[in-house]
Amino acid sequence: MSDRLVSQGPTDEERSLDVSLRPRGFSEYIGQKKVLAQLEIAVQAARERDEAMDHLLTYGPPGLGKTTLAHVVANELGVNIQTTAGPLVEKSGDLVALLTNLEARDVLFIDEIHRLHPSIEEVLYPAMEDFKLDIIIGQGPSAKSVRIPVSQFTLIGATTRAGLLTSPLRSRFGIVHRLDFYTVADLTAVVERSAKLLGVSCRPEAAVSLAKRARGTPRIANRLLRRVRDYAQVKADGTITEEVAGEALALLEVDELGFDEMDRSILQTIMEKFSGGPVGLSTIAAVVGEEPDTIEDIYEPYLIQIGFLDRTPRGRVATERAYRHFGLTPVDRQKRLF
Ligand SMILES: Nc1ncnc2c1ncn2[C@@H]1O[C@H](COP(=O)(O)OP(=O)(O)OP(=O)(O)O)[C@@H](O)[C@H]1O
Ligand SMILES: [Mg+2]
Repeated sequence: MSDRLVSQGPTDEERSLDVSLRPRGFSEYIGQKKVLAQLEIAVQAARERDEAMDHLLTYGPPGLGKTTLAHVVANELGVNIQTTAGPLVEKSGDLVALLTNLEARDVLFIDEIHRLHPSIEEVLYPAMEDFKLDIIIGQGPSAKSVRIPVSQFTLIGATTRAGLLTSPLRSRFGIVHRLDFYTVADLTAVVERSAKLLGVSCRPEAAVSLAKRARGTPRIANRLLRRVRDYAQVKADGTITEEVAGEALALLEVDELGFDEMDRSILQTIMEKFSGGPVGLSTIAAVVGEEPDTIEDIYEPYLIQIGFLDRTPRGRVATERAYRHFGLTPVDRQKRLF
């Protein structure tokens, strides 16, 4: 579904908006203060030494600002950024072409880096370590390996699945940061900033109520803002007041925790069909009709973060909090068990 509020990556319409709403420098990048504090030092040190910054790996759930951060770092370093993504690099020659086109200290951004093919990953190792490429020329007995230098560069890798990264690749990143879900205060600032850029008037209380429903995720905050802006334009005078926001969110069926149908479906499945768990991920996936990977990457991190779901070795478990949210009490759960 293209208009789902909680979905993997940006929709096509969003891709261009993502770019226009994207912060360009550290000062515009909201939240993630600890990460920024360390990156600011790394950037300044690299600039002063006139060297490429250490390779940087960022990971965390979708929409938290990994791609944005890569661009911010390149801007702050004052260098060019070339971007690609793991699944787009089909042959090692593709990567060689990218690497040999880099100028000194440039950034190469590889999104979904966990999806690089192992044989292509191997091209990266000497490049990351010694700024060299080992290229095989010719075939069969006459084939020989040639070493060619590449410019000093910074590789920035991003992934939603740090656990899937091979350890040789992971160990070659000097700086590794996990991006956390954003606080309501940070997301309020994201909404206010985006409203300004979009030229829409949004009352402070309305910004807070959008922020609360954004699942800790700036992309979702922006997504909500755009939907509510449409509603305000059509059903009111264009201004997003708390009342207008409330009506629009009710129409969109986004509840006060930012749950959409799939969140509800996952939790209700565990509580109602499996007595609260533990139940395996693939079983849940089959019942709700969604890919296990999508559930694990997109839905679960937030449900775990707000304390509604636990991952145990025996499967997923709905917590007492989840029961309370759906108006069920642990007593209900006991009744169901006996
Ligand atoms: N720290 C931030 N401050 C302000 N806006 C942000 C911030 N982080 C992200 N955004 C907004 O959220 C949008 C999505 O961010 P981004 O594309 O960088 O996420 P991502 O982590 O790369 O997601 P994915 O895993 O899907 O690739 C951006 O276009 C930007 O408008
Ligand atoms: Mg991204």
